Amino acid sequence: MSFALGKLPLASNLFLAPLAGYTNLPFRLTIREIGGVGLCTTDLVNARSLIDKNRSANKLIETCPADSPLAVQLFGKEPAELRDAALILEARGIPFVDVNMGCPVHKVCRNGGGSALLTDHAKAIRLVKAMVDAVKIPVTCKMRLGWDADNLTAPDLARALADVGVAGIIIHGRTREQGFTGKVNLAGIRAVVEAVKNVPVIGNGDITTPRAAKRMFDETGCAAVSIGRGAFYNPWIFRHTAHFLATGEELPEPTLDERLAVMTKHLDRMVEVFGEAQGCRQFRKVSLQYSRRFGPVKEFDKRMIHLNHRQEFDEIVTAYRRWRQQFLDEHGQLRQAYRPRSLDADTTIAVPRGPNEKW
Ligand SMILES: Cc1cc2nc3c(=O)[nH]c(=O)nc-3n(C[C@H](O)[C@H](O)[C@H](O)COP(=O)(O)O)c2cc1C
Repeated sequence: MSFALGKLPLASNLFLAPLAGYTNLPFRLTIREIGGVGLCTTDLVNARSLIDKNRSANKLIETCPADSPLAVQLFGKEPAELRDAALILEARGIPFVDVNMGCPVHKVCRNGGGSALLTDHAKAIRLVKAMVDAVKIPVTCKMRLGWDADNLTAPDLARALADVGVAGIIIHGRTREQGFTGKVNLAGIRAVVEAVKNVPVIGNGDITTPRAAKRMFDETGCAAVSIGRGAFYNPWIFRHTAHFLATGEELPEPTLDERLAVMTKHLDRMVEVFGEAQGCRQFRKVSLQYSRRFGPVKEFDKRMIHLNHRQEFDEIVTAYRRWRQQFLDEHGQLRQAYRPRSLDADTTIAVPRGPNEKW
């Protein structure tokens, strides 16, 4: 379904959530090529580092015409810094800027950024207003339900932010205290939807399948959904969800050949954007996400976690295909006992080691 954020039309109301360490240019292009996604977001970027022209901050916002439309996510605690960083993004032609109010990491919260903003509404509003007043591009805010179960502050904060002119609220249905534990709280998201009347609310959390996306829409009344970890091992999730919402029909899971073809392109882009050594190194953890849907995968993962050269990948794939034959039936399909468990709306998603400390 088409959708507008600010005044900008988007091809769909299915968004890629920011995932630090993953949602770089190669991943976004890979997702976009498969189709169905309406807006992609970068990893969180430190506003101060962007102003200081820090090399890694600039790398995080690297983009190209095919990577559109794009939101860059900023974090920080100083209104002047967020404003100036937003002005830099606007001058570079970035169409959307998002503010991180959900990051639970101690390093970010200790400094008053990320989830800490959920506890100081006056400060959060000052910060966002400085940006909204300075730029013409739409500003969105991504937050959690509150600091903990006793302080579910998101509905009030979201309403106040909408009143100062944000174009949309992205709400992850967990508290800061929860980290990634438990299940997404759809009633909590619904409370935010009900509190905010004038801008779209985008629901986020635990969407692993088209059915889970539909449940998020149905039970919360949100205007769009944002998908993070579900896109790791299923970059097809946007296309399949768009199809399911339009027709009620579930498309079959991609075959191993399709997955490997997409992975190969993804790796090639990593090499192009980061160089062979860094691109291959960074692809190791990405590969472990893709391979979750391969069936037996020990021999593949064992070698991929040492990937150093692009050419090794082709060798690993060839060897893996040979090894995997022992698990196939006479039609070349994985025997039942070896098939990965089918994804359903309740599939829990593994959290890669470290995000709570690292982002
Ligand atoms: C590895 C990892 C990195 C993340 N990085 C960010 C980030 O940079 N900014 C942010 O707002 N949220 C970040 N998140 C949170 C996700 O955007 C999302 O809110 C959360 O994972 C719940 O959605 P999901 O169940 O669809 O993944 C990250 C999550 C993970 C697992």
